Amino acid sequence: MLGIIGGTGLTQLANLEITHRKVARTPYGEPSGALTFGHICDQEVVFLARHGYGHTIPPHAVNYRANLWALKEHGVDRVVSVATVGCIHAELLPGMLVIPDQIVDYTHGRAATYFVDNSKPVTHLDFTYPYCKAMRAALLQAAASSGIKLRDGGVYGAVQGPRLETAAEINRMERDGVDMVGMTGMPEAYLARELELCYAAVGAVVNHAAGRGRSADGIQMEEIQPLLGEVMLQVRHLLEQLVTNDASGLCTF
Ligand code: HPA
Repeated sequence: MLGIIGGTGLTQLANLEITHRKVARTPYGEPSGALTFGHICDQEVVFLARHGYGHTIPPHAVNYRANLWALKEHGVDRVVSVATVGCIHAELLPGMLVIPDQIVDYTHGRAATYFVDNSKPVTHLDFTYPYCKAMRAALLQAAASSGIKLRDGGVYGAVQGPRLETAAEINRMERDGVDMVGMTGMPEAYLARELELCYAAVGAVVNHAAGRGRSADGIQMEEIQPLLGEVMLQVRHLLEQLVTNDASGLCTF
């Protein structure tokens, strides 16, 4: 079953016909909210709002382990994660969608593995390509079949938040090869790998990163809000098409 993790601007899915909700408990604590089960175009999916349904959980306080564990426990084998990003690469602009293919992790102090006790041998999992190829391909296919424009590839820089970056930090990230910046991509992507979930992300660009373009003099939060609505509408169409195309069986790393 497909799991959808929604971020800022996507705390519910208008096109989801809800069948039931379930409060899940995991060995790692509680997920951000109840799992919402339902159908999109007759296909069963489960939705989870990463920041809680009232958008009250900041990025550094999200229980990423509980979220992914709960999804897996309830039959999810592939995950689309939706997250807003600020753009650094010159060809990315606010309003665009992007399917990243790489990650640089700047987060710290987050619970970033399920290997926490001595009961299992230490495992160093391959993470050379952090996103599931099959899920990326399914998203690109969905975009192509629904005429939604998105950018294929880019390096996602995961920052700690909740504060936004300084202009110098963005310059450093650009030197590191980062194309877009967000606060929630890690450890989510890696935990999905530990659970063998086929996981890919959709980045919704909602602002120029600090010191760039329209954010040259600072990031104006009030400019983000109207754009967020528009870009999430596109995300909903993309998800609808993804489900319709039914990518099941494609999930191999
Ligand atoms: N920085 C970090 N996270 C973000 C941004 C940003 O500019 N925009 C959306 N999420």
